[in-house]
Amino acid sequence: MTLLEQIRQPIDTALRECRAYMRSRMTADDPFVQSMLDYVIDNMGKGVRPLLAILASRLHSSQPLGERTNLAAMLVEMIHTASLVHDDVIDESPMRRGNPSVNSRWGANSAVLCGDYILATAFDAGMTSGHYDIPTYIISAMRELCCGELVQNECNRTSTMSREVYLDIINKKTAVLLSTSAAVGAVAVGASEECVTRMAEFGTALGMAFQIKDDILDYDVDAQTGKPSCNDLREGKITLPLLDVLERAESSERERLMTLLKAARMDDDAVEQLRAEVVVRGGLQAAERLMDDYMARAREILTAYPASEVRRSLELLCDFVAARNH
Ligand code: FPP
Ligand code: MG
Repeated sequence: MTLLEQIRQPIDTALRECRAYMRSRMTADDPFVQSMLDYVIDNMGKGVRPLLAILASRLHSSQPLGERTNLAAMLVEMIHTASLVHDDVIDESPMRRGNPSVNSRWGANSAVLCGDYILATAFDAGMTSGHYDIPTYIISAMRELCCGELVQNECNRTSTMSREVYLDIINKKTAVLLSTSAAVGAVAVGASEECVTRMAEFGTALGMAFQIKDDILDYDVDAQTGKPSCNDLREGKITLPLLDVLERAESSERERLMTLLKAARMDDDAVEQLRAEVVVRGGLQAAERLMDDYMARAREILTAYPASEVRRSLELLCDFVAARNH
């Protein structure tokens, strides 16, 4: 059994029901739009956010999980899905999870509209369900995601970055939605405010570690991410491994590395040279150390709960995030 299968085991039935719920709500009358939607949903990936929402519901309730948890899980997954469809347009990325991105299949204009359609349909289902507190709880995560992406774009454009800004960006673009996923899972089953806050903190720590891992994997030419490697360098994006190296470099060295970063937008040799510098100068190890700190924080938060198979799944999810190569 793979680690992910082990994590999913205690909530297998709930996950199956959630997938069926998602399929039944994410529909289109138009066959072309439906085919796009099917393509995106068939390509959805690991489903970490719904997994987190359902585990958080299960951790706080022994009752059968119902529509509120399904709705919470669907909304966080659809925000994530739509954001990646838009992200691939912004990054002009040809691939997502080993398949052609929506923009490379149908063009950027249709990909933007497809992302919009996904969000509109998901929140339509959210509001017509009558469980207003769930979409209300989740919606601010979408603002943060957009804000994180906007600040990141501006940093790429101006080739600037600081540790404070980097941490703020990854919090907004990734950790907030994982935090929301865990917290809203608890909200869905009426958990106390204390538990909701605890789940939000767990999701934040896990999410920070998750994005740092993503940024490390971008440097790994052997990683099976289904995306081209060193994409960040090609986009002029300064993430933690390079940032750490820049912080420690003397000013003349820093200038040389920044010149390489500028060249990396068009020149594969510059990409490889910069990647090698980051590796040799210990940028990946430094990033791993910070990732481990966040992971330790996430694990510590879970110790507030008595041992159970659901708590075990959340602990294994931490292992999975730290060890993944995709
Ligand atoms: C992936 O980052 C992108 C995100 C985590 C967020 C993208 C957010 C937006 C495009 C804002 C719009 C939001 C909504 C809700 C439509 P990455 O480029 O570092 O990762 P990647 O390597 O997987 O592309
Ligand atoms: Mg991207």
